Formats: sequence, structure tokens, C-alpha cells
Amino acid sequence: MQKPTYLSDSELVALAWQARDLASAPYSNFQVGAALTASDGRVFTGCNVESSSYGLSICAERVALTKAISEGAREFVTIAVAAQGKGTVSPCGACRQLLHDYAPNLRVLLSGQEGKHTEHPLKELLPLAFSAEQLSK
Ligand code: THU
Repeated sequence: MQKPTYLSDSELVALAWQARDLASAPYSNFQVGAALTASDGRVFTGCNVESSSYGLSICAERVALTKAISEGAREFVTIAVAAQGKGTVSPCGACRQLLHDYAPNLRVLLSGQEGKHTEHPLKELLPLAFSAEQLSK
């Protein structure tokens, strides 16, 4: 198979900002976008999708990840998350866990302003993570 070409970090962050424009966040009015690169080079985007039953709302990161998995992607390299908040917005605990389940070595790019981002290994965002290995008795 041909070696995949990956988008640059800045390009991935730009896609996360574009995905944010599609957010359906009528309850919080807080829009988030994500763009996830699979190891085969495909990029999957996501935005937050909220419910009138608030707890059913789903974060941008999990939308991107579940889209990717449902399209057959199984290995991931980088996720970019874009949101305009006070300080840099970073993934919630539930998203960190699900991302870790599928991509413990993921790179996470956080952008609170277009054209700027910081980089964090997921392992640093979720130290002492629970993982499937711990399920064996
Ligand atoms: N949200 C995300 O989509 N990703 C994050 O990293 C933080 C929070 C969403 C969930 C909810 O729709 C809104 O932002 C406010 O919490």
C-alpha cells in the first residue's frame, strides 16, 4: 500500500475550525469542532451535537471518533480541537477516555484562536488511564 500523506498540524486545526461552524449547540451556545487524522491519512471531522435532554449531547471529539470508527478507521495519529472559550478548551474526561481506548498514543492539538494551537500527548491529558488491559482478571 502507498504511504499515506498527512495534513500538516495547521491544516488539521483549520479543518477543526471549519467543523466548528457546523456545531448544533442551541442549549450551551458553545461550539466545538474537531478533526481527527487516521493512520491511513483520512481525516474525520466532528462538531458537538446537543439534545433537549441535555445529557444526551455529544462532544465534537466523540463525533469525529465514532464517525471514523464507523468508516473502518482503527488507528489514529492526531486530533485537533477548536473552540473559543476562556483559555484553551480541552477535551472532557469522557472524550479523553474514549480517545485513549482507541488511540492511547494520540497527539492532541488544542486551538482557542484560529491560526494558533498547542500540542499535548493524550497520555499527559489522561494519566493513569483505565484501559482494556485492566479488564483481565
Ligand atoms: N464540548 C465539546 O464538544 N468538546 C469539548 O472538548 C468540551 C465540551 C461541548 C459539549 C457541549 O455541547 C458544549 O461543548 C458545552 O459543554
